[in-house]
Amino acid sequence: MAEVLDGRAHLLATPGPTSVVFLRPGAAPRFVHRGEVVRLMVHPAAQGRGLGRALLDAAVAHARLLGLEQLLLSARGGTTLPAFYAGLGWTEVGVFPRALHLGGGERRDEHWFQLLL
Ligand SMILES: CC(C)(COP(=O)(O)OP(=O)(O)OC[C@H]1O[C@@H](n2cnc3c(N)ncnc32)[C@H](O)[C@@H]1OP(=O)(O)O)[C@@H](O)C(=O)NCCC(=O)NCCS
Repeated sequence: MAEVLDGRAHLLATPGPTSVVFLRPGAAPRFVHRGEVVRLMVHPAAQGRGLGRALLDAAVAHARLLGLEQLLLSARGGTTLPAFYAGLGWTEVGVFPRALHLGGGERRDEHWFQLLL
């Protein structure tokens, strides 16, 4: 990911890597107090063992170290991902209807979550 190489995003991963997540601190002056968590992914063979929760916790801890005040992330509708983030204490702040364009012309909602640090 080019953003990691040039310092715009931070990569957190478990050895392997079995799981990965990116933290993208706000770049523009109005957004310096916040960050975005993107692409939390645990290898299918390693799911259900607490790695997703641990990696998300690590991203939150890293954001606090950076002095960020809040985090945002989005999750694809029509999957269990919104329930995953809600279950980990993130607040759903809105749904962007039909915002995701999938293959075959399919559209999915995008669920936005916020965590105040
Ligand atoms: C969602 C995901 C990150 C969860 O990771 P994981 O390591 O399996 O999750 P954990 O074992 O840490 O689970 C933590 C908690 O969330 C719950 N949970 C896990 N997956 C869940 C899901 N899909 N929906 C709802 N809850 C879920 C667990 O039951 C657990 O709750 P508990 O502690 O109360 O028992 C993982 O399934 C994944 O990577 N999915 C694919 C995500 C993807 O495609 N991302 C692409 C973004 S570009």
